[in-house]
Amino acid sequence: MSNDDVVRVYYRNVMARAVGAEHGLDAEHGLTDEQLDGLAGRISEIVEQIEEGRARGERRYRELPYEESMVQAVEAACAVRRGKYDNLVVLGIGGSALGNIALHTALNSPMYNLLPNADRRGSRLFVMDNVDPVQFGALLDLLDDDLDRTCFNVISKSGETAETASQFIIVRDWLRRRMGAGGARDRIVVTTDPRTGTMRQIVEDEGYDALPVPEGVGGRFSVLSPVGLFSAAMCGIDVRRLLAGAAMMDLRIRNPELRQNPAALLAAVHHLLTQRGKNLHVMMPYSYQLKDLADWYRQLWAESLGKRKSLDGQDVFAGATPIRALGATDQHSQIQLYREGPNDKVITMLAVERFDCDVSIPQAFDDEEALSYLGNKSLGQLLDVERQATEQALLASQRPVLTVQFPRVCEETVGQFIYLYECATSIMALLMNVNAYDQPAVELGKQYTFALMGRAGYEEQASQLQAKLQIEPAYRV
Ligand code: PA5
Repeated sequence: MSNDDVVRVYYRNVMARAVGAEHGLDAEHGLTDEQLDGLAGRISEIVEQIEEGRARGERRYRELPYEESMVQAVEAACAVRRGKYDNLVVLGIGGSALGNIALHTALNSPMYNLLPNADRRGSRLFVMDNVDPVQFGALLDLLDDDLDRTCFNVISKSGETAETASQFIIVRDWLRRRMGAGGARDRIVVTTDPRTGTMRQIVEDEGYDALPVPEGVGGRFSVLSPVGLFSAAMCGIDVRRLLAGAAMMDLRIRNPELRQNPAALLAAVHHLLTQRGKNLHVMMPYSYQLKDLADWYRQLWAESLGKRKSLDGQDVFAGATPIRALGATDQHSQIQLYREGPNDKVITMLAVERFDCDVSIPQAFDDEEALSYLGNKSLGQLLDVERQATEQALLASQRPVLTVQFPRVCEETVGQFIYLYECATSIMALLMNVNAYDQPAVELGKQYTFALMGRAGYEEQASQLQAKLQIEPAYRV
C-alpha cells in the first residue's frame, strides 16, 4: 500500500488558535495545547493498557485484520455461490447490518443494484435491517420470480434478535414451500456465534452453511469479521485489501504518543470538547460513498459510549450524541443551526482528495454572472470547495471542526477508517471510564417486545404493560 493511501486526521480547527478560546456564553470553543497535551500521559497509559490486554486476548476485534482462517472461510463460502446467485439478501440489524451497508455504499457504484448482471462485479445486495412490513413485503414481491437466483445471509450473534429471527422464519418458510428443505438449506448462510446460542443450534439441526462471529467480538465491532466480509466479498469487494488497510492503521494506533496516534487524538479531542459542553458529535461526509460510514459510526459511538454507570459502578450518565449529516446536501438543512444555534457540537468532516470519477460542468450562460462562473469546473471540485467554504464559515462562528481526509475511497482507506474509529471508541471509553462493549439499556425494550409478542416467561410483564398501554382519552387530541 502506498503512502498516498493514508487516512489523515486534521485537528488544527478544533484548537483555540482557530476557533478562539471562549465565546460570550460561558463556554469554551477551542482547545489549548496545554489542555491537549495534559491528556498525553493518560493516553499513553491507555494505549499501553490496551496493548497489554490484547496480549491476554482482550478486545478481540483488534486482531481481525490478521485472522487468515476467517478470510479463507469467507472466501470459500463465497466461491461456491459467486456467479450462481444474482441477489444476496442480508437479514440482520444493528451491528449485524450497518457495517455491511457502509462497505457496500463506500466501495460499489451508487447505481450497483441497477446495473445489468454483466456489469456488476458480484451479486446485488439488499440489507434488510428492519421489520417494516411494506419494505419487507416489497422485497419478497421483487424477488419472487428470481428466488432460484437469490441467497440469504442471516446474521445474528445471539440468534434471538426478534427482527432478524422473524425475517429468517419468513424466508425459511418461503424457500421451503417453493423448493423444499434442501433448496432452503442451499440458499441460506448463517453468520452466528461459533459455539453457543439459538442460531447455532438451528445451524446444527438444519445443516446450514455457517460463518463465525468470532468470540469476544461484539456486533458494532464486527464489520471486519465474516459479519461484514461475506456480503462484501459476494459483491466483489476485495476483503483482503480492506483488512490490509485496517492492519496499517493498527501500526499507527499502537503508538503511545498522543499527537502521533490518530485514534488517540480523535478520542482526546472529543473527550475534552465534550467536557466543555460540546456533546453533539456530527459526522459530515462530503462524499456519497462515505455517507453510510457515518451511520455506522453513529451506532458505534452511541451504543459504546452512552452509559449510565462508570466502570466503578457510579451513576455518570455519560455520552455524547452522534449525528450524521451529509455535505453538501445538509448545508441546506443543518448549517443554519450549526452556525447560529447552541455552540454544543464538534463537527467532523470526511473529505476525499481524489474522487473515483468526476463530472465536468460545461461553459454556459456567459451573460449570467450567477451561473457562468461554474463553467469549466467539475462537480468534484465544487463539492470539495463547498466543504472548505463550510468549514471556514463554521470557524467564523467559532465552531470546532475536525477533518478526516481520505486520499481516495478504496478498500485500504475504508479499512483504515473503520479500524480508526473502532480504536478511538475504545480509547474514548477508557478516558470516560465506561465500558464500551455492553449495551444494558437496550435490554428492557427487548424484554417488553417479548412480553407484548407473547413469549413464554414474560406473562407478568405483559399484563403490566397492557395496562400502561391503554389510551387515556384525556390525553388525546
Ligand atoms: O452492537 C451490538 O451488539 C448490537 O447492535 C447487535 O449487533 C444487534 O443488537 C444485533 O444483535 P444480534 O447480532 O445478536 O442479532
